[in-house]
Amino acid sequence: MCGIVGFTGSQDAGPLLLEGLKRLEYRGYDSAGIAVQSGGVIRAAKASGHLRNLCEQTHDGADLPGVCGIGHTRWATHGAPTVTNAHPHLSDDGVFAVVHNGIIENYAELREELQGRGFVFHSETDTEVVVHLLDCYYKGDLKAAVMKTVSRLNGSYALGVVCADHPGELIAVKSASPLILGVGVGESFFASDVTALVGHTRNVIYLEDGEFASLTPDRITVFDCAGREINKTISRVVWDVEAAEKGGYEHFMLKEIMEQPRALKAAIEPRIKDGRIVLDGVELTAEQLRNIRRVVITACGSAYHAGCVGRYIMEELCRIPVEAEVASELRYRNPLIGQDTLVIVISQSGETADTIAALKECKARGARTLAIVNVVGSTVAKLADDVLYTWAGPEIAVATTKGYTTQVAVLSLLSVYMARKLERIGEERFGELVKGICSLPERCQRAIDLNTHVGYLAKRYHNNSSLFFIGRNLDYAACLEASLKLKEISYIHSEAYAAGELKHGTIALIDEGRLVVALCCYEALFDKLVSNIKEVKARGAKVLAVAQEGNRHIFAEADDVLFAPAIDPLLVPITEIVPLQLFAYYVAKENGCDIDKPKNLAKSVTVE
Ligand code: G6P
Repeated sequence: MCGIVGFTGSQDAGPLLLEGLKRLEYRGYDSAGIAVQSGGVIRAAKASGHLRNLCEQTHDGADLPGVCGIGHTRWATHGAPTVTNAHPHLSDDGVFAVVHNGIIENYAELREELQGRGFVFHSETDTEVVVHLLDCYYKGDLKAAVMKTVSRLNGSYALGVVCADHPGELIAVKSASPLILGVGVGESFFASDVTALVGHTRNVIYLEDGEFASLTPDRITVFDCAGREINKTISRVVWDVEAAEKGGYEHFMLKEIMEQPRALKAAIEPRIKDGRIVLDGVELTAEQLRNIRRVVITACGSAYHAGCVGRYIMEELCRIPVEAEVASELRYRNPLIGQDTLVIVISQSGETADTIAALKECKARGARTLAIVNVVGSTVAKLADDVLYTWAGPEIAVATTKGYTTQVAVLSLLSVYMARKLERIGEERFGELVKGICSLPERCQRAIDLNTHVGYLAKRYHNNSSLFFIGRNLDYAACLEASLKLKEISYIHSEAYAAGELKHGTIALIDEGRLVVALCCYEALFDKLVSNIKEVKARGAKVLAVAQEGNRHIFAEADDVLFAPAIDPLLVPITEIVPLQLFAYYVAKENGCDIDKPKNLAKSVTVE
């Protein structure tokens, strides 16, 4: 949601800002704009809709000369996605331009106050108060005006500011929204995430909440909220620009599906040493684990679905009660969470607003918190007591694929680790599970190779207007993600159902030709699932089954079959989701959908 970029150096800023915004497109947006400062003047251009509109309007940035500027992609919250509401917002005297990601919660009262002082508002956005506050407090001292402005703001904000009186200088402010500084040679950058920076520099500074920075081509100075200069470490981003490009694939989503074997390897391999599980720096002793009465897994979207899989695995292996709950519910529920609760927070981006809030809530209640996160240095990673990174590499497509499977893999590792420490599983079962987890990269590749016919099945079924995914136990947990994948990129209504629940109402919706996708890889309950298949077929449904490779019985039951390679029963969601990711991808493609950037969705949901 909303992307911010800033550049100061000796090259033309316009094209660089547009290129940076292009790399942030995946976050989700509906308008865009840039502002470039030169010769004591700030020029801005904005366009609604696709970024290409802004590129055309500015001749790829050439119309805005200058070597210092800011850019923004806006995902509308306060006000429609119009040109007027698009960022940057400029002060009436043209001295300041501001871009913002987040929400200024007290904007209404600030707006009223500023209007009382004679400031005229042009947009419906919360952001516009920031530029008028700067204008109001600026008496020649930029740093002082920024500090005074920030002290008036409540809410979440990453801000980028240029001032016509300060050639070549950018201001970056961070509070509860992501912002990263890029340290180049004779040039400096900021951006909402590293994907917009790695093409220029892999040396970055992670700002903490409450910090702000002044960037010039040769120097970045970071201050705390009291304005004291602070020393910051320069970190090196481990992946390069190719990881954030399509690499010959038509869509990022397809590339990321195909990358899963490699991503799983990166998540698993370094954590297995001589047949033991080593969880980075996370120390969970047997005694600490014995004091845990409950595990609560919380997250949003697909990360929550990974948590639902984790719940089955962890409870089964550790024999501790495990719950999974969406973060937006947990945070407002006065939950029973205390020192005897282990809270596992899952997030690909580490910046999801509800997930961050739930994490803070659980910490405040004394729980030990462990985060499973992909993005290094993200807010969730910083806030949690312990972090296990998924090491999936950059994920650009809005619909997560490798993010999800690596989350489940890390949850599996954690569950097996805990179960062994608690002595709930013996050495033999531990060895089997470790072997199963280690085989995941190769099994995942096999899941891709086994389903070359998935595009053909997508052609057959893409016209369905509504469909159901059914399964039991871990198959059901996988259904949740399979159903979301399909609906978010193809806009086809679909529901995930615990197969045993069908009879309690939903079966009324099964009619002639309705597609039911039956996940039957959890073999202990295969016969039960077959009964459910028979029930829906008796009512005219078409059944597309997902079964383990080698299962011959399924041909007699289903109309079509996708295959997942055989694996330990507790790990089936990771292999069976792969053909269903591909199915969702090809159905969306058949339907001509914008696969990497589905309508109304954002990759990283940084507002509630
Ligand atoms: C958005 C994305 C989903 C993602 C969810 C949670 O809705 O489109 O793919 O699962 O946010 O994001 P997180 O970064 O916290 O995993």
